[in-house]
Amino acid sequence: MKSVASAPGKIILFGEHFVVYGIKAVLCSIDKRITSTSQFVDERVIRIRSSLGESEMSIDSLDNLEKVQQRFMKPFFYIAQKAIKENSTKYGIEIVLESEIPPGVGLGSSSAACVAVTASVNGLFCKLSKDEVVKIAIQAERSIFEQNSGADSSVSTFGGLVSYDLKNGFENILSKNDLSFIISNSAQAHNTQDVVRQVRKFKEENEDLFSKLCREETSIVNNAIESLKENNLNKLGSLMLKNHDLLKQIGISTEKIDLLVQEAKKTSYGAKITGAGGGGCVISLVDNSNSKDTLDNLRKISDCFVTKIDYNGLRYS
Ligand code: PMV
Repeated sequence: MKSVASAPGKIILFGEHFVVYGIKAVLCSIDKRITSTSQFVDERVIRIRSSLGESEMSIDSLDNLEKVQQRFMKPFFYIAQKAIKENSTKYGIEIVLESEIPPGVGLGSSSAACVAVTASVNGLFCKLSKDEVVKIAIQAERSIFEQNSGADSSVSTFGGLVSYDLKNGFENILSKNDLSFIISNSAQAHNTQDVVRQVRKFKEENEDLFSKLCREETSIVNNAIESLKENNLNKLGSLMLKNHDLLKQIGISTEKIDLLVQEAKKTSYGAKITGAGGGGCVISLVDNSNSKDTLDNLRKISDCFVTKIDYNGLRYS
């Protein structure tokens, strides 16, 4: 028996970094997925296979997560171990991951993988609800990144366009929008934790400026939510450019990222970093009128693709 589940990646439209300090962010899941296929195997092992590598551990040494060499695989072992313990199975489990989401560039690939693996592994025993899946996926992610807010896993599980803040959590943004974005990969790998630390240092050294930037970000995000509801692409695009400027001021852009934003600005409604920055990806807002020109131009300097909002979230198949 095979248990298959898939979950989407995400982009942050507004509010990254400032969200860490209580400001609202806007994010959505995208139509690029990771699929996890789980099945029982006779050997007493947990085996994980993905395009990024393979790893295996005995189910008789279940607590040894520290020994896992490839750090990104740790949450998947955590998920499988938990399911094996709770269901007292004598079999091992093999998990195969197939991804459409480029890894390590802020598109939520690790959260999507945790969501898909949680659903597919547990589906071997008893199908979990989305609420149950998201809880386990967040615990699993915290096995490698303790301060993880859970935002990525939540948007990946439930799908759609949402706002998020630390105090109030998630809220769906009611909108008829069928937005299209071009995602351009700077090909500069980033480490979210390092960039978050760098921003904290910037804040501590520039408290007044940072407070002013937080106020500006709040206004951008509130206007953006209104523009999303009105489907006002011109206004949204110019708010994205303003948001990018704030992200530049806190020092998380790079020459390559700024070049991508500059080029995207020529034909799209607006563009900005998405996610932690320090590399990673740029999103540009487009529609049918300017998508091709923007794509043709950005393709000269980066790998890019068009994406739309995913409204499904986790899917069992
Ligand atoms: O690199 P990403 O896309 O996972 O973005 C992290 C977003 C931050 O706001 C920088 C950090 C956070 O925990 O919200």
